[in-house]
Amino acid sequence: MVETIKPSSRDEREKWIREAGYNLFNLRSEQVFIDLLTDSGTGAMSDKQWSAMMLGDESYAGASSYYKMKEAIKDVTGFDHFLPTHQGRAAENVLFSAMIKEGDVVPGNAHFDTTKGHIEYRKASAIDCTINEAFDTSVYHPFKGNVDLNKLETVFKENPREKIPMVVVTITCNTAGGQPVSMENMREVKNLAQKYGVPVIFDSARFAENAYFIKEREEGYENKEIREIVREMFSYADGMTMSSKKDAIVNMGGFIALNDAELFRKASVFNIIFEGFITYGGMSGRDMNALAEGLYEGTEYDYLNTRVSQVAFLGGKLKEFGVPVQEPFGGHAIFVDARKVLPHIPKEQFQAQTLAIELYLEGGVRGVEIGTLLADRDPVTRENRYPALELLRLTVPRRVYTNNHMLYVATALGNVVERRNEIKTGYTIEYEAPIMRHFTVKLNKI
Ligand code: F0G
Repeated sequence: MVETIKPSSRDEREKWIREAGYNLFNLRSEQVFIDLLTDSGTGAMSDKQWSAMMLGDESYAGASSYYKMKEAIKDVTGFDHFLPTHQGRAAENVLFSAMIKEGDVVPGNAHFDTTKGHIEYRKASAIDCTINEAFDTSVYHPFKGNVDLNKLETVFKENPREKIPMVVVTITCNTAGGQPVSMENMREVKNLAQKYGVPVIFDSARFAENAYFIKEREEGYENKEIREIVREMFSYADGMTMSSKKDAIVNMGGFIALNDAELFRKASVFNIIFEGFITYGGMSGRDMNALAEGLYEGTEYDYLNTRVSQVAFLGGKLKEFGVPVQEPFGGHAIFVDARKVLPHIPKEQFQAQTLAIELYLEGGVRGVEIGTLLADRDPVTRENRYPALELLRLTVPRRVYTNNHMLYVATALGNVVERRNEIKTGYTIEYEAPIMRHFTVKLNKI
């Protein structure tokens, strides 16, 4: 799809962002020139995907589209059982309903916010076991998404087995900056979890980008095909949740895939309650067709190389213009270290959000805060949780923008960095929801 985008004036943007309560989620898309809010559902579908949509089978039960999706999932991931869901968090909702209970602990590598939300909503806790290197943007580590095995084993040792329903490994690790997990780490996590009898679930939204990084960075994988790598990755998991809006390049869709037939049966009940019958689960037949095709396109080396290189192009330009960014660059986004840009703004005034607003004012570019607003409050003490990193994420939609757009974004942010000392204050909260506040928060400019 080709869509029109329109530039706006600084005066217009000042008015719009004020009306939006200084929350970029509240802007209308027409008020945004270049939209790097997310890579989720914002990709452009291919000719093959659009034509697959025309063959969608909209039968309630047993649609051919369901079987097409089932075959593609088996082929790409190796899992025997699958349940369609309307998106990734729905997959979490269904699977966690079958697996997590009050008081449980769920270790993992910097769980994504909806994942954490679904864990905490069940009065269980998510324990972050990511390696320490992930929290220093200037340290190079090829696999900053890795799970720290000592931290993980401590969780296993300190909690009875029945309180640990699963380990969640997020590939790539979004919260840590779109950072990959190595094959070696996946293998080791699986071995350790197996020793303690705990299943491993991959949160797989960007599994293909993770496979690309393994091919590029891990010894022994340079000559392997992406699909071979993907199959090996999933051999170290007992199941997966998927937001297909990322690496399956569709606008809407998700799924759960599993080895265990018993767990599949249990999860099926929740799928029917929350999503729909097990052969469509919240998806149209046409969307399942596009998803099946997207799983193949999303795991092609040439496509992945083009995509990840475009993200790196943005990262390179930002560095050139003096913007501090998480390195190595992530697969789907560049994460700007807002604390380094605005060290003079107190953390209570939301540094990364302040930077996101400034970038919008500067050039009509919409990024997203991955910082204190997103980290939310501690569910027990209700105090703000200040995360190790205050990041502004610039997320690149798949097959949508050109490098010229990326250059524009880098220039705009470079300008903000140049005038950072003129940015004197941040924001306070006027309204916030009790959970996942960043989506609907309203702020006041100090
Ligand atoms: N897991 C990860 C790692 C994600 O990045 C997301 C969504 C989800 C699960 C939930 O999937 O949106 O289909 O319900 N991430 C988007 C983002 C929203 O902007 O990073 P969903």
